[in-house]
This record gives sequence, structure tokens and C-alpha cells, in this order.
Amino acid sequence: MKKCILVSGGAGFIGSHVTVELIDAGYDVIVADNMSNCDMTCFEGVKKITGRGDIPFVKMDFCDAVATELLFTTNHIDAVIHFAGFKAVGESVSEPLQYYQNNLDSFMNVLESARHHGCDNILFSSSATVYGEPEKLPVTEESPRQPATSPYGNTKQILEDVLRDSVQAYSNVKGIALRYFNPVGAHPSALIGELPRGVPNNLVPFITQTAIGKRECLSIFGNDYPTPDGTCQRDFIDIVDLAKAHVFAVRRMLEGKMKKEYEIFNVGTGKPLSVLELITAFQEATGVKLNYKFAPRRAGDVTAIWADPSLANQELGWKAERPIKDTLAAAWAWEKHLAGK
Ligand code: UFG
Repeated sequence: MKKCILVSGGAGFIGSHVTVELIDAGYDVIVADNMSNCDMTCFEGVKKITGRGDIPFVKMDFCDAVATELLFTTNHIDAVIHFAGFKAVGESVSEPLQYYQNNLDSFMNVLESARHHGCDNILFSSSATVYGEPEKLPVTEESPRQPATSPYGNTKQILEDVLRDSVQAYSNVKGIALRYFNPVGAHPSALIGELPRGVPNNLVPFITQTAIGKRECLSIFGNDYPTPDGTCQRDFIDIVDLAKAHVFAVRRMLEGKMKKEYEIFNVGTGKPLSVLELITAFQEATGVKLNYKFAPRRAGDVTAIWADPSLANQELGWKAERPIKDTLAAAWAWEKHLAGK
């Protein structure tokens, strides 16, 4: 029988790409989302890409314990991939209570109901933000976590611990935390991608919106960092590659191949790219000249971070494959798709 995966927060950027890959790998998927930070564009795109107009969709809020319980009562769920949560670093600083309440309540309700209903496989979407400003690069899963610099980052740390402690306390429950580096790009079909509300916080949507003329000029936050070209370095991981890592991780759980009850994997390329290098790659990939200027540093940014992805490479059998230029060309195709061009 096909295994059924619940994707909480599955209508968003990462969730929709993961849903496509899960269906492609032969899983049944239930997508649930409260639509607080997205519309149906990506879910409709997922249905088109997969040719599956019948993917179950539940509009619900995981902060509602009764609704969460009902979802598990009315469906047989073998594993959960949990995305439902707020994710804007800056907003979390001005609205900490919203972030703690939403991100913590929703995951704890999922864990509680999953446990009641014998769903023992939990995959949590964590972030490289837990490493803070690393002392040694690249970071491995053993690198120390640093005190969080935002409530958003703190919720990721707390929820990793909630999962670790739950796995330890409740027999049968297994957990995997995937620590994402900088997910960027879009599906090659250009039917799903990032849909930021208002002015984008993240680099790639700002680049594509500037390139299409929605924004006048990209500000590069800081060119006086102690890096080769003075701009920050990141590990930009293609969104489809990142989505595939979830399939490998879920399979590992469902097939009983985990070596510990709680495992953590870095999901990155292992290759640093500076902000300027990324802009150059975008221009080369698309032929579009980007209007940019240097601006002061952005508060809270780390100088450089990239992954050592060897553990995921060896244990999950997963590796980032897509060249950055293809990733950026896909992000550009998506922006043009949105603009109807
Ligand atoms: N940047 C600019 N101009 C912009 C936007 C970003 O120069 O308009 C720079 C930033 O200063 C940073 C780099 O581009 O140096 C990447 O910035 P992003 O906002 O795209 O990504 P971050 O590395 O800040 O954060 C991302 C996710 C977080 C996650 C973090 C983990 O957005 O959710 O990675 O490292 F926590």
C-alpha cells in the first residue's frame, strides 16, 4: 500500500516543491495549510506539474489542536513533514509573541496528534540559522549551535529540541531535522516558485523583481565583510534539490534505515557563493543586466556560512546537483511567468 505523507504548510514555496517530489516518488500526499502567507498559486501549479488534480488539500491551522486531531482521526498518515510556521526574521523581532505562539503551538499539536494516532515519523524543517556566526567553516551537524539572533531562529532551535526530547521520551517516535541553507530557484516548469508578500527580504526574489522592473535597484547589504570580495557568502541550494532531500529522508524513516531515533542533516551544496558572485551568475544565466548598488550592512547578517553536506551525501544518498546558473534561470522564468511574460 502507498504510504501517506502529511505536508503541513504544504502550499508554500518549499512545501509545494516537496509535494511534487513526493508524488513523483510514489507517495500519497495530504497538503494542509492555513494560507496565512500564500495563495493557491503554488498548489494549483503542483496539480498541473504532477497531473494530479485530486491531491487532498485541507485549509486548516495547526495551532488549532482540535482541527489537527480531526485531521489525524480522519486520515491514515504514515509520516509528517512539518513546514507550517512563520519565517520572516525581521518580523519575528517586532512580533516575537506571534512567532513563538504560531511556530511552537503548531508543531506541538502535530507531535501530540501524530503520537495519539501512531504516526511515528516526523520530519522537521530546520535551518542553518541555528549555527549563527560559525567559528569554523564549513559547518557540520556537530558544529555548535549559537544563541539565536532572532525569535524566528530561536523557534527553530527550540523546535529541534522539542523533537529530540519527544523522540527520546516516546517509544517508536522517530525524528529527522533537515537544516536548510539558502533555498533558491524554482521548478523547471516555472509553475511553482517563491511568492514573497510585499518587498522581498531574501536576495533572489529581490534580484528577479529588480530584473523585471518591479524594483528599481537591488541594495547589496555590505561590501566590507572579511570575505574575498567583501560581500557575504552563503550556500545557495536549489529548491528542487532541497525538495528531493526530503524524499530521501522520509524513505529512510519509513524503511527503518535510521541509525539513531533522531537525526540531523545539513541540506546544502558545500560551495560558498558571495552575494556579488550570485549576481554575476544571474546576469550570465539570463543575459539581464542588474541594477545594483552597495548599501550598509543589514543588522543580524552573518558574514559567511556554508554546509559540509557529507553526512546527507553518505547517509541519505542525496547530493545537490543543479548548477547555480540553472537554478537562477529557473527563478527568472518563474518571475516572468508571474508577470505573464
Ligand atoms: N541581501 C542583499 N540584498 C537584499 C537581500 C539580501 O544584499 O536585498 C544579502 C544579505 O545581506 C545576505 C544574503 O544576501 O548577505 C542572503 O540574504 P537572504 O535574506 O536571502 O538570506 P539569509 O542568509 O539572510 O537567510 C536565509 C533565510 C533564513 C534562514 C537563513 C539561514 O532567509 O530564513 O538563511 O542561514 F534562517
